[in-house]
Amino acid sequence: MVNSHFDDLSLDELRGRQGAKWSRYAPDVLPAWVADMDFKAPEPIRAALEEVAALDDYGYPWFREQNPAVDAYVELMARRHGWVLEPERIHTLADVLQGIQLFIELASEPGDGIVIQTPIYPPFLMMIDDNDRRLVDNPLGSAAEGYPLDIDGLRAAVDERTRILLLCNPHNPTGRVFTRSELEALGELAVERDLLILSDEIHQDLIYPGHEHLPIASLAPEFAERTVTLTSATKSFNIAGLRCAVIVFGSQRLAEQFHSIPRFALGGVSSVGVRATANAWRHGQGWLDELMAYLDANRRHVESRVRSDLGPVTTELPESTFLAWLDCRDLEVGTAPAEFFHDKARVALNDGADFGPHGAGFVRLNFATSRAILDQILDRMADAVGS
Ligand SMILES: Cc1ncc(COP(=O)(O)O)c(C=O)c1O
Repeated sequence: MVNSHFDDLSLDELRGRQGAKWSRYAPDVLPAWVADMDFKAPEPIRAALEEVAALDDYGYPWFREQNPAVDAYVELMARRHGWVLEPERIHTLADVLQGIQLFIELASEPGDGIVIQTPIYPPFLMMIDDNDRRLVDNPLGSAAEGYPLDIDGLRAAVDERTRILLLCNPHNPTGRVFTRSELEALGELAVERDLLILSDEIHQDLIYPGHEHLPIASLAPEFAERTVTLTSATKSFNIAGLRCAVIVFGSQRLAEQFHSIPRFALGGVSSVGVRATANAWRHGQGWLDELMAYLDANRRHVESRVRSDLGPVTTELPESTFLAWLDCRDLEVGTAPAEFFHDKARVALNDGADFGPHGAGFVRLNFATSRAILDQILDRMADAVGS
């Protein structure tokens, strides 16, 4: 593989970071768990931070007239999808999960059903539980079929008291990028059953060739009017700690519902996060293209090394994201393979059981690191499996 600046990572430097990824586990463990990348920040992010630091501009932000993160998102959606959005229908929040939590409270009552496609990003399950809502499970189809949406299953699962369809597209952990026809079927069912669609599109920028991310609200006005879209630049530009997300209300009614929340309950966003997000979406496409080429090679490398070196473990090429979903059910290491890899390989992964009932026996591996570190991770896992 041609040398790339993404190769340029030092374990000593990474171990000096204070973020969750490199701090949670013992120093001899290689972390491949939480969805933060190891790569250095792209230039537009540094520029945003340097601009703020150069002016010591840390006071209250003034985004009343125009919020640069909102404007950058509007421009991005118009450029990528021809989707025309009104800035008045968009707001910034500290993070995506905050927006989901708020709309769970606004649009449902305890005991109401929320439908999700499992296996799923664990906080979705936690939020359903925390809010005493009911999990309505609509598992994705099998890996062999490419994890399709099961629309018939969805139709059968949604009952009278199901209020919300909590969609994760692109999907974490499988990396699925749902197709137009899947999303249309989903949207039509939401219309038919009067469901609010909460569409988490945080992985929207991380799409591999041959796939196209489509915001569900952009597909039809009748979908938009019942959709709240949530996204951010935090996954694709590695800035989760800067705390800025956008929330898009597909109708005036949804915007009004949001604005009924007592204003101080919302908190504010970080001025640095807003500027970094705007810079990322406006000036980061070149870096993002290079990143995707690097990640594309890494995802293929993971797939091929799993096949050759990890015995009975299997995986599919993800269509998006830097996360690989590994089926370890034939490994015979009990129900918690992440614990096995932590103890025997000194590699930290996410355990599939946390992703819902259909995740037990799987692990999620984050491959957004240099090829050299990725190989150390895979070598250690291969040794543990072989020993
Ligand atoms: C699908 C999905 N949604 C939300 C989040 C968290 O986003 P935030 O930190 O903005 O709440 C993540 C983080 O990995 C994610 O993968």
